[in-house]
Amino acid sequence: MNLSVVILAAGLGKRMHSHTPKVLHEALGKPLLQHVLDAVSALKPAKTIVVIGNGAQKVIEKIDNGNVQFVIQKKLLGTGNALSVAREKLRRGPVLVLNGDGPLITTKTLKALLKRHVQNRNVLSFLTFIDDSMTGYGRIIRGESGQITAIKEDKHTTPAEKKRFRELNGGIYLMEREALQYLDRIRKNRSSGEYYITDIVSLVSSAGKKLDAYNCPQEESRGVNTRQELYEVSEIMRRECISKWMRKGVTFLDPETSVVHRSVTIGRDSVIYPNTYLEGKTSLGNKCVIYPGTRICDSSFGNEVIVKDSSLIEESRIRDGAVIGPFAHLRPHSVVGRNAKIGNFVELKKSTIGNGTKASHLSYLGDAEIGDNVNIGAGTITCNYDGINKFKTKIEPGVFVGSDTQLVAPVKIGKGAYIAAGATITQDVPPGALAISRPSQQNLANWVHSRISKIKKQSTKIKKGNKGTR
Ligand code: UD1
Ligand code: CA
Repeated sequence: MNLSVVILAAGLGKRMHSHTPKVLHEALGKPLLQHVLDAVSALKPAKTIVVIGNGAQKVIEKIDNGNVQFVIQKKLLGTGNALSVAREKLRRGPVLVLNGDGPLITTKTLKALLKRHVQNRNVLSFLTFIDDSMTGYGRIIRGESGQITAIKEDKHTTPAEKKRFRELNGGIYLMEREALQYLDRIRKNRSSGEYYITDIVSLVSSAGKKLDAYNCPQEESRGVNTRQELYEVSEIMRRECISKWMRKGVTFLDPETSVVHRSVTIGRDSVIYPNTYLEGKTSLGNKCVIYPGTRICDSSFGNEVIVKDSSLIEESRIRDGAVIGPFAHLRPHSVVGRNAKIGNFVELKKSTIGNGTKASHLSYLGDAEIGDNVNIGAGTITCNYDGINKFKTKIEPGVFVGSDTQLVAPVKIGKGAYIAAGATITQDVPPGALAISRPSQQNLANWVHSRISKIKKQSTKIKKGNKGTR
C-alpha cells in the first residue's frame, strides 16, 4: 500500500498557556509529536508530512526529521485547512491523518484501522471511542439506522445530542484520494471561524460514499489540550511502560514513584527501588539493583550492576558487577569496568575506570584513563583544567593513589606505582616507583607545653604594665 501520513501539528495550543508549541511538550521525556511519529513509522509510510505553523522553527529543530517533510500552515484556520495545506505534497494511495497531540496511539491500532479500511473498501475510516467523562472531543452523529452522518464538535452539540450520541472522535482518519476532494467543500464554521477536518465526514456521507468508524481503546485516543491532560497522558504512558517491564521480570518496589521512558530496556530480575528515573536510551542488564533517588540517562549497564542511593548517571557505560554510589555523579562519556567501585561523592567526567578499580570516596576524576585494579584514595582529584584547556591523566594498572592526592594533568602514573598520601603530582611517575611530594615531617618535642608557658608569661607582663599606666 502506498500510504502517506499527515500529522496536524500547527495549532497554537492556547489551552496550554505556554511559550512552547503544544506538540513539543513532553510526555515521558519525548515530545508529543515524536510519539505520534514513532507510532506511524512502523507502518513504513511512503511519505510522512507534518503540518506546522505555531513555533514552526522550534518544531523543526526538535523533531528527528530524517524521514519527515514539514509543511507550513501560514494561517491557523483549523484542522481542515491544515490538511489542505499538505494535500499537494501527497502521493497516490490512501492518506492517514493524525492529530499531533495524540501521543498514545499504537502501531497495532493503526494497523487494525488500515486492515478494516481496505477490507471494507471504505473511502473514509476513522477511530472512535466511548467515554462519558471526557469533554472537548467531537461526537459521532448517526442517523436512524445507525449510519454515520456527521461529526459535531463538543462545543457545538446540544445536551440532547450529548445524551444520545456517546461515541467520540479520536482524531485519526484514513482517507482515499476520493475523500480528499471534499476538503474544498468544507465551509468555515460560523462560530469559530475555522475549517474543521471533521466536516469531511458529513460531506462523504451525504455523497453516499462508503465510510465507517472503528472503536479503539479509550486510552489510545486521548489528545492533549491542557496541562492536566498532558499529565494524564504521561501517567498512562508511564504506568503502561512499568507494567510491561514487570511482565518481563523486573521488580519495582513502588511503581507509582518510578519513571521509565519508553526507549529504556531492563534485564530480568533487576530490582528498581522507589523514586528512580530511567531515561532516554538507557539499558540495564540482568539482576541490576537501582536504589532510591537515582536518575540514569542514556546509559548502558551490564549485568548485576548496583547503583546505591541518590546517584546521577549520564551517557555512561557500566560493566558487569560494578557498584556505583551512594551520591555518585557520572557525567557523560564515562566507562566503569567490571566489578569496579565508584563510591560516595565521587564525580567522573569522560573517564575510563578499569576492571576491579576502586574510587571509594570523595574524588573528582575527569579526562582520566585508569587501568585495572587501581586504588584511588579518598579525596583524589585530577586537575584536568588550566582555565583554558583540558588535559588527560593516565593511570596504569595496579597503581595505588594515596588519599588527598592532586594529579596535575597532563600526567602519567606508570604500572604498579605508589603515590604517597597528600601528594601534588606534576610529573610522570615511572612504573613501580613511589612518588612522594610533601615536606618531610618534623616533631618538635614539648612544643605545646613551652608555648603555653610563654603565652602565660607574656600576659602577666601586659597586665602589670596596664596597672602602671592607670
Ligand atoms: C480535534 C477534533 C475533535 C477530536 C479531537 C481528538 C477538529 C475540528 N476536532 O479537536 O473532533 O475529537 O481533535 O483529539 O478537528 N491543528 C493544526 N492547524 C490548525 C488547528 C489545529 O495543525 O489550524 C492541529 C493541532 O496542532 C493539533 C490537531 O490539529 O495537533 C488538533 O487540533 P486541536 O485544536 O487540538 O483540536 P481539538 O479541539 O482537540
Ligand atoms: Ca486536541
